[in-house]
Amino acid sequence: EGEQSHENHPPSMVAEGDDHHIITKKQGPTFCQFQGFWCRSSLVPNIISFQKHFQALDDDIIVASKPKAGTTWLKALVFTIVNRARFSLSNSPLNLTNPHKLIPYLEITVYGQDHIPDLTSIPSPRLFATHLPFAVLAESSIKQAKSRIVYVTRNPLDIIVSFWHFIRGIECPDWPLVECFEMFCRGEEGFGPFWDHALGYWKESSEKPHKVLFLKYEHLKENPIQQIKRIAEFIGFPFSVEEERAGAIEEIKTFCSFSNMKDLVGNMTGTMGRLHIQPKELFRKGEVGDHINYLSPSAIERFCKIVEEKLSGSGLAY
Ligand code: A3P
Repeated sequence: EGEQSHENHPPSMVAEGDDHHIITKKQGPTFCQFQGFWCRSSLVPNIISFQKHFQALDDDIIVASKPKAGTTWLKALVFTIVNRARFSLSNSPLNLTNPHKLIPYLEITVYGQDHIPDLTSIPSPRLFATHLPFAVLAESSIKQAKSRIVYVTRNPLDIIVSFWHFIRGIECPDWPLVECFEMFCRGEEGFGPFWDHALGYWKESSEKPHKVLFLKYEHLKENPIQQIKRIAEFIGFPFSVEEERAGAIEEIKTFCSFSNMKDLVGNMTGTMGRLHIQPKELFRKGEVGDHINYLSPSAIERFCKIVEEKLSGSGLAY
């Protein structure tokens, strides 16, 4: 049940050259529908394998997000908070290794169709990440265990613009922004719709605040010190008064900031995953509200109306 997949094909614009009838396909990534959300069909076997085999432990920490909501940043923060007694910042593995290698995605890198990893020897607390919606994640043992989930979301208009730049850079150089925008209006983007993704974690965090911490990218930008303290307390690694006095939170804030992270060796070299993504693609601008520079006022208004309607009555606003 729920395992049939329907491929969607975002509308493709076909341009013909005057003389040679050269056909240039301008099309974006293809997603299929699975368990009520959209994802790449190549992930379906991984998700099934994860749901079936993952044995959650009570002290696991899961970083959850939709792509482009600030995942890389949150991974860096969680890794640094948890490991601060083990590594000084100058010795942090983050200097040489991309955050996505240190906190891998359960459904992208940890589990595969024919790959059921032995995760028992990973020191506690184990750190994992996921882009899966809460309902899909909850089909694993994570729901029963006391493992904690730190979720980050972001203004979906900024997610659209960030995603469009990212996908153009790695995979679809000719994909028009308008098509990307329409895909998000339909809610057919990877791990989307946005509203279902955010609402799933929002509801769980309201009902079980010890289980899910719900963060917004904008709040992290606005008051990083306060948000870093919240994260640390939630995951069971609170800062002591001495640490606070010594400026430990301020140091973590600066270390994980956009301007510092983007220039670390681990984020300037190598490639990641099946698409051979260069880590530098994960650091574009790191600002709030950049959609203003790309989307027309009428497009913004139209999208805001959709989101407002979808989130209405939930207490969550964007
Ligand atoms: P922009 O494209 O708007 O710049 P994700 O990590 O979920 O893929 O999200 C990527 C977005 O987060 C990108 O947004 C990227 O620039 C931004 N980002 C990455 N690292 C960041 C950091 N340390 N601080 C703030 N924003 C960061």
